[in-house]
This record gives sequence, C-alpha cells and structure tokens, in this order.
Amino acid sequence: MHRDLEQILVTERKLSQLVKRIANEINKDLNGEPLLVVIILKGSTPFAMDLIKHLDMPVEMDFMQVSSYGKSTSSSGFINLKKDIEQDITGKNVLIVEDIIDSGNTLYKIKTLFQDRNAKSVRICTLLDKPSRRVVDVKVDYVGTEIPDEFVVGYGLDYNEQYRNLPYVGVLKKSVYTN
Ligand code: IMP
Ligand code: MG
Repeated sequence: MHRDLEQILVTERKLSQLVKRIANEINKDLNGEPLLVVIILKGSTPFAMDLIKHLDMPVEMDFMQVSSYGKSTSSSGFINLKKDIEQDITGKNVLIVEDIIDSGNTLYKIKTLFQDRNAKSVRICTLLDKPSRRVVDVKVDYVGTEIPDEFVVGYGLDYNEQYRNLPYVGVLKKSVYTN
C-alpha cells in the first residue's frame, strides 16, 4: 500500500469485479443499441477504459472536462466547462462515466446539458458514490460501490493531480492535506 494512504478501500480484484458487473447491467439495458460513452476527464479514464472492454453494443467515445477541486478536498458548487464533447448528440444514447459522485453538482449539470441537447437517453455511471454528501438530487443509473465520507484517491482519482496511477482506491491520510 502507498505510504500516504490510511487504508485500501476497493482492491484491484474488487474493481475488476464491479466493472464487469456494471458492464453487464449496461449491456442488458441497452439491448444492442449503439452507445456514446462520455468520459469525464481526468479521473474517470482508468475506470472507463476498463468498462468499455466489456460493453457489447456499438460504442463511441468522447471526452468532457469540467473544473475540478484543484488543491481542495470539497466541491465549490460552481462548475466550469473546460472541454466539451465534439459531436451532435441528438437522438443518441449517452452514458456519462464519472469517477465519483459527491455533492452531485457535476453530474447534475452535465446530465441537464445533454438532455437540453436532445439526446435520446442520458444515463449516469459512477465508480464510487458518497451518498452522505449529496446536495443535488441526481439519479445515478449504475454505481460501482458506495463509500463513506472519506477523501479517496487511486484508479484515476487524485489529490492535487497525484495518486491517479494507483491500481486500487484508498483513503488518503489527513496529514497529507491538512497542516
Ligand atoms: P461533485 O460535483 O461534488 O459530485 O464532485 C464530483 C467530483 O469531485 C469528482 O468528479 C471528483 O473529481 C471530485 N471528488 C469528489 N470526492 C473525491 C474524493 O474523495 N477524491 C478525489 N476526488 C473527489
Ligand atoms: Mg478530480
């Protein structure tokens, strides 16, 4: 385990199991219909890359980036669109892939944006869910696993751009971000 971590919360083995489980759920729901997978940069990329390997419908990928926490550990509620997707989504089935849902601000904003652009359907998939922190009510269709209110890193999730490369998800020691 990385020395900046308190504990490992989701092991590599558990991650691979939950990715397959979510992909199966998506495959069932889409029933062969084409899907546009929108990956929210940067944190969702390891999860999304693993997930798409198990999807069995025709898949397209696109990327979106919104403003992140930067060097803080809580969301401001103000979401800034840094990079938009590159296509018209009218009539398409869209799956938003996110690393973690916390306040819900980010996903609420992106989902509303895609609905306004007349997508055929907009689904949300998140690796991790911190339900105790929810401020905005947003329906999440696929959840990897719920976690307690702890700041976590690894498997794409960062603190100050670090730890994204860890192959598991772990709780960051408070001493790393408080002084
Ligand atoms: P929300 O808008 O408050 O739901 O925040 C979602 C975003 O906050 C995620 O996409 C993450 O980038 C970031 N985030 C929330 N909790 C954590 C965490 O525990 N570790 C790392 N990033 C987090
Ligand atoms: Mg982030």
